[in-house]
Amino acid sequence: SAAEKGGYDYFMLKEIAEQPKAVADTLLGRIDPSGSLTLDEVRISPPELREVDKVVIVACGTAFHAGLIAKYAIEHFTRIPCEVELASEFRYRDPILDGRSLVIAISQSGETMDTLMALRHAREQGSKVLAICNTNGSTIPRESDAVLYTHAGPEVAVASTKAFLTQLVACYLVALYLGQVRGTKWGDEIQAAIKDLSRISEDVERVLETMEPVRALARTLATKNTVLFLGRHVGYPVALEGALKLKELAYMHAEGFAAGELKHGPIALIEEDVPVVVVVPSPRGRSVLHDKIVSNIQEIRARGARTIAIAEEGDEAVVPYADHLIRVPVTPTLLQPLVATVPLQVFACELATARGNEVDQPRNLAKSVTVE
Ligand code: G6P
Repeated sequence: SAAEKGGYDYFMLKEIAEQPKAVADTLLGRIDPSGSLTLDEVRISPPELREVDKVVIVACGTAFHAGLIAKYAIEHFTRIPCEVELASEFRYRDPILDGRSLVIAISQSGETMDTLMALRHAREQGSKVLAICNTNGSTIPRESDAVLYTHAGPEVAVASTKAFLTQLVACYLVALYLGQVRGTKWGDEIQAAIKDLSRISEDVERVLETMEPVRALARTLATKNTVLFLGRHVGYPVALEGALKLKELAYMHAEGFAAGELKHGPIALIEEDVPVVVVVPSPRGRSVLHDKIVSNIQEIRARGARTIAIAEEGDEAVVPYADHLIRVPVTPTLLQPLVATVPLQVFACELATARGNEVDQPRNLAKSVTVE
């Protein structure tokens, strides 16, 4: 009913709008007054966490994209090697696991069969499993050694939005907590990152306030056959997620690429007026990546692409090459996915609506897939 949707036309729109609160709720009670993390729920003891020599993340769909982003944060803050694998692929290749491997299973529903089977397999090998989950008491957390709930509240729309952002926050918390427990980084760096994270919900709020031009742009693309997405570093999984959303909702061909791979194939797809969404890394910090993306945008535009850049406020270098510019607030590099994903959600939702599709219940899809 309309009341359930809180005045929005679709649950998806409501859930997109709920993201600032959802992100804040994921952090709630987990940062202590001294600015450190207290994750009592992670019932894997600090000595055990100090023994971990490998982190393996398993998930499906959008949760898998959260896992791909988590790898950057986990390796950065802990210096522990981290692998990310589709849960459906993981078990069947006889993965190398033992008591020192920490397996993180990410699942909104906590019922995805592939993820459940992957975690069962990991526990049989003696690995500890930490679930990142949105659904209290669901199967995946019940069968795990520990769980960090995302507290996004119920997600009704099939295409995941607020669950994804909160999975990212939970992943950052795990990365920082592991770093804190293991003392890998100077406490100052961890504390600064925790502080950045605690402010991020305001940035998500600000992105939401500037989405009207994104909707207008989406409507003009309703008759396109394909949309490509490019990203680098943490922007690469964001590109994958943008493409997935478009497939799920708009039933369009959409693909995400690592921008550095353009010249190894995808650039052959560029023809007149093909929309290409580019997630542009911050010009600060790792500016090498920024400069490379800017030349990618130039390359594809020279071949006729219609370039849509998602770039940080104040990034002027992209302006001459972007046919459409979507601004996101300045954030630390690792946290950019929390703001850069939001326009892609809005974009897919609006395109789906413009194409007359059912936004909350896309054809052929289920909210949670409980068969292998
Ligand atoms: C289904 C949903 C996706 C979701 C995936 C994993 O395919 O349609 O939105 O990302 O399952 O679900 P989970 O509940 O494990 O996060």
